[in-house]
Amino acid sequence: MIAARHRGRRADRAVTLDPVTGAEPRSWDRDTLPEGDEKQRAVRDMFDAIAPRYDLVNRVMTFRLDVRWRRLAIGSLGLPPGSRVLDLASGTGDLCVDLERAGHRPISIDLSFGMLAADRSGAPRVQADILRLPVPDACADGVTCGFALRNLVDLQAFFDELARVLRTGGRIALLDVGVPHNPLVRWGNGIYFGKVVPRIGGLLSDPAAYRYLPRSVAYLPEPATMLQMLADAGFDGARHRPLSGGITQLLTATRR
Ligand SMILES: C[S@@+](CC[C@H](N)C(=O)[O-])C[C@H]1O[C@@H](n2cnc3c(N)ncnc32)[C@H](O)[C@@H]1O
Repeated sequence: MIAARHRGRRADRAVTLDPVTGAEPRSWDRDTLPEGDEKQRAVRDMFDAIAPRYDLVNRVMTFRLDVRWRRLAIGSLGLPPGSRVLDLASGTGDLCVDLERAGHRPISIDLSFGMLAADRSGAPRVQADILRLPVPDACADGVTCGFALRNLVDLQAFFDELARVLRTGGRIALLDVGVPHNPLVRWGNGIYFGKVVPRIGGLLSDPAAYRYLPRSVAYLPEPATMLQMLADAGFDGARHRPLSGGITQLLTATRR
């Protein structure tokens, strides 16, 4: 192992370099979960790295259930065709493809250039932090967001931003991984997510990223807390729906 000290921004921390390549370790390859700016940098770099094989790993590790969850989310918007829908943290654009199929007009917004480059949906693509959207107030009929809540630095700020960009009556459908209520399902899911997914991810893509992703569930508040946060942000009828035994959760609400 080679230890080195770097000048400038990093002068105050020791960095262990890769013994073979001499490169710095990747920012998400660590035992503790990062916070704040450090978290955002780690998340962006990680998705840049896994973008090329993201869709393949998703399909394999969810047995294609992810396709079903996205369609349910879009159906739950209950918006008429032609609606302007912002797909936030759009990744490779899977939700945008389904939004277009449903006759909507999606815009794909993500932080990672790597993920946006892999987006083949044909929707307009915007590189931005979804906590500070580069769009005017009340410009959207709907918002979707798939599997990104736990990557955000400040969830309440995100819900406030959703309230800002949606018109009155606008709808949101937010998906993320969940914690199953049933102890047996929770146990099985814990083994699968904690042991099997990192192996599949490691074989097909980046092992460190697929070790980080299951652990990032710890960032998510309880469903009841998220529903209260949505109400505080300006949403009515906030609803939490467990999908597939609770391994995934869907949050829906209407802008007041
Ligand atoms: C697990 S992927 C989900 C992609 C896609 N929504 C899906 O359903 O497959 C999470 C995405 O969130 C993006 N992301 C994380 N934090 C973000 C932020 N603050 N602003 C914009 N995008 C962000 C990442 O770049 C990544 O593409």
